[in-house]
Amino acid sequence: MDIRLQKVREDDAAFLYRFMNDKTILDALDEIPTQLGDWVEAISAWDRDPDEEVTIIFDENKPIGWLGINGLLSEDKTAYIKMIGLFPQYQNKGIGTYALGQALGMLRSRGFAAVALYTDQSNRRAQNCYMKCGFKITEKLVEKMANGALAERYKMELVL
Ligand SMILES: CC(C)(COP(=O)(O)OP(=O)(O)OC[C@H]1O[C@@H](n2cnc3c(N)ncnc32)[C@H](O)[C@@H]1OP(=O)(O)O)[C@@H](O)C(=O)NCCC(=O)NCCS
Repeated sequence: MDIRLQKVREDDAAFLYRFMNDKTILDALDEIPTQLGDWVEAISAWDRDPDEEVTIIFDENKPIGWLGINGLLSEDKTAYIKMIGLFPQYQNKGIGTYALGQALGMLRSRGFAAVALYTDQSNRRAQNCYMKCGFKITEKLVEKMANGALAERYKMELVL
């Protein structure tokens, strides 16, 4: 495997559409199905928004997942991991830990003070990945998700 991260580009819309309509991903994220056009618009909005940065995760030339960060303009220099996901066949191989580690290194080098994220309390794989990167649980909450589900969530934080 040769994992690399690359800033999202216009022609990644088809991948994001395919990825974000994968049944296991929809279930893991409590998301609802989307259209190709939604991703074309999202990429163009991210491109115009200096607060956000989205990266596609590749295995050689094959897109296998993505990672989104926001809060880049926050006054307290706290960034948020708003999304990280890999296709099921690429999960549990350390790729999430590696990709997140790359993102954290980038944030550290740009002078960010802390990074935070939200995850489902039931998503043990995600929590383990985040804990391996140094995140700690700092808050428990219940959140209404895109698909209407009420999810028990953790906020996790890392001081850089
Ligand atoms: C969350 C995600 C990005 C993590 O990336 P990953 O590459 O799978 O994670 P890693 O392999 O780096 O680490 C996972 C760890 O969880 C452990 N794990 C896996 N399944 C587990 C389970 N059911 N219970 C407890 N631990 C588990 C693994 O053993 C591994 O720890 P280890 O290296 O100490 O053995 C990825 O699994 C994913 O895309 N999931 C679907 C989408 C999703 O849930 N995104 C997060 C939303 S907050």
